Amino acid sequence: MQKRLLTLLALALLLASPVMESATAASPPIKTLAKARGILFGSAVEIRELYRDAAYAKFVRGEFSVVTPEYEFKMKAIAPARGKLDFKDADRLVTFALKNRLLIRGHTLVWHNPDALPEWMKERKFTREELRGILKNHIQRTIKHFRKTGRGSVFCWDVANEIFDSDGRFRTDSVWAGITTNPVEFLTLVFRWAHEADPKIKLFYNEYDIESPGKKFEAVYKTLQALRKARVPIHGIGFQMHHGPDRLNLPATRAIMKKFAALGLTIHITEYDFALRDSERLPDAFERQASAYSELATLCTSIKACKAFTTWGFTDRDSWIPETKPGLGRATFLDGNLAPKPAYYSLKRAFSAGFKSQSK
Ligand code: XIL
Repeated sequence: MQKRLLTLLALALLLASPVMESATAASPPIKTLAKARGILFGSAVEIRELYRDAAYAKFVRGEFSVVTPEYEFKMKAIAPARGKLDFKDADRLVTFALKNRLLIRGHTLVWHNPDALPEWMKERKFTREELRGILKNHIQRTIKHFRKTGRGSVFCWDVANEIFDSDGRFRTDSVWAGITTNPVEFLTLVFRWAHEADPKIKLFYNEYDIESPGKKFEAVYKTLQALRKARVPIHGIGFQMHHGPDRLNLPATRAIMKKFAALGLTIHITEYDFALRDSERLPDAFERQASAYSELATLCTSIKACKAFTTWGFTDRDSWIPETKPGLGRATFLDGNLAPKPAYYSLKRAFSAGFKSQSK
């Protein structure tokens, strides 16, 4: 407790110093400011870039306390052929993380998306028993692998990702629906398998569009409530939060986060970005974006259960948005040359303002 107070005091002095105000580069990195509020700060990273681009790697080492592999921990990367596992790329991230004292959010074990499924899974239909065997094996072998190589870094897993569609219905077009189409039954199985493989690791359910009231939020809330009631080992909920160009209704999001927190779940903001229309003019667009970033960071600091703020990429050069959402882009807080945008500075301000509120 005393150590935490001293850190806060040191930070307050640094931030109050007039010298520091003009020399922003020398002010504490975002991870330090966020840590003083009990929050991990980080981003999805591309392992290829970490080893290719020294400036990219330097930023990761300097500003983040946690990273999420954007691709390399997904089934497509890890299980290229049936019965064959390949952790080569994944372990390069573990090596980097261990060397630089970074935590890793394991992402993700169960995802229906074709981008995450190996070709051999798409080639033919599997029976229910086969699917159960394949999924249980994948979950348990992957978790056990990182329990060994990633000890001290891989601290949590997004066990299941996006099992509901945008209307809050269990995805019946998912290959995994061959196991069961009952969401409670499905998640009970996969979270128990995950827990069995590593009883100490924190297990998350990760989802998009649950931050606003509606059918999707209700479906996820009801399901997770049932899981907690049945004492299924689930510890947290990941709010992806791919946003922009419209702004968020913050009071509604706050109420929703509190509802999940009241179930005893930790909250991680897992994939935040705020996309701008290509036609939007600067500097207004960047200012609007900066406010969106800082409002969400501030919201996280005001909710006790909110323990991580991670973005989906941190440079406009590498962001997934322009490829997947035509007409939108510039969604991160560094520009294409890795120079800080207004959102970088607004994040700093958000994490350094006041102390973490004790309200729940
Ligand atoms: C995306 C990556 O950014 C792409 O590079 C990859 O090809 C497909 O997946 N929600 C998620 C992430 O949970 O895993 C997705 O990442 C973005 C949407």
